[in-house]
Amino acid sequence: MIETRALSVHLTGKPVLHDVSLSLPRGKLTALVGPNGAGKSTLLTALGRLIAPASGEILLDCVPLNTIPAPELALRLSILRQEGAVGPRLTVRDLVSFGRYPHSHGRLGVTDRAEVERAIDRLDLAAFSDRYLDTLSGGQKQRAQIAMVLAQQTDVILLDEPLNNLDLAHARRVMRIARQEAEAGRTVVVVLHDLTVAAAYADHLVALKAGRVAASGRPDQVVTEPVLSDLFDTEVTVAEVGGRRVVLTL
Ligand SMILES: Nc1ncnc2c1ncn2[C@@H]1O[C@H](COP(=O)(O)OP(=O)(O)OP(=O)(O)O)[C@@H](O)[C@H]1O
Ligand SMILES: [Mg+2]
Repeated sequence: MIETRALSVHLTGKPVLHDVSLSLPRGKLTALVGPNGAGKSTLLTALGRLIAPASGEILLDCVPLNTIPAPELALRLSILRQEGAVGPRLTVRDLVSFGRYPHSHGRLGVTDRAEVERAIDRLDLAAFSDRYLDTLSGGQKQRAQIAMVLAQQTDVILLDEPLNNLDLAHARRVMRIARQEAEAGRTVVVVLHDLTVAAAYADHLVALKAGRVAASGRPDQVVTEPVLSDLFDTEVTVAEVGGRRVVLTL
């Protein structure tokens, strides 16, 4: 479980997150939603300890995040960044193998190799595993980066817009994997722009607007016309199809 208490984050001196207090439960899939520039990536980056808070606290299983030694944190938390830069002269298998580094320290054992192959299979990348990343399509590259995160087998998984560039079948595959990881007891936090997907897969939604928590709760509490219209400052329609909430902006 991750908790933030009155978290504020500044970027190049500018306040970006203000007084964010949240609980991100273990064994649940939390969707982080909100408009462009709301602070979703900043929050995820702070949760991954890649930027330090200006004030407030982040707790991982009740322990202040900033006191956890880096090698231990690498075994407990993994993050897919929105702008993931990857070396082009790496194969998919090389990239996914890097995900095992905290476990293997560069010497892949039997378990490491098995986890790498499993992550490659889960992302439907077996046909591409020996290809260089710079020879892949955008969606294939994105899947390789998700596979690297999964191979880490951490208790906390933070995914910033994992569905970017994915076709609908692979988007469904990734969301099913995210649910499986949550159901296996992990803390899974996914930044999503597709609110229909968020409503279908998440246990819990957190909506950010202008660096603050604008709403949070179950999908039926957040995926509503008034909440979403207010969140995005545009008229949003929520329909029900086959018992699921579908978000439209027509
Ligand atoms: N290095 C930086 N210095 C100053 N401001 C920044 C910096 N990086 C981001 N910002 C600003 O911080 C705010 C939050 O950015 P962030 O990337 O967290 O938004 P986001 O919710 O992830 O948006 P998106 O949906 O577009 O990915 C934005 O207003 C952005 O312009
Ligand atoms: Mg972002």
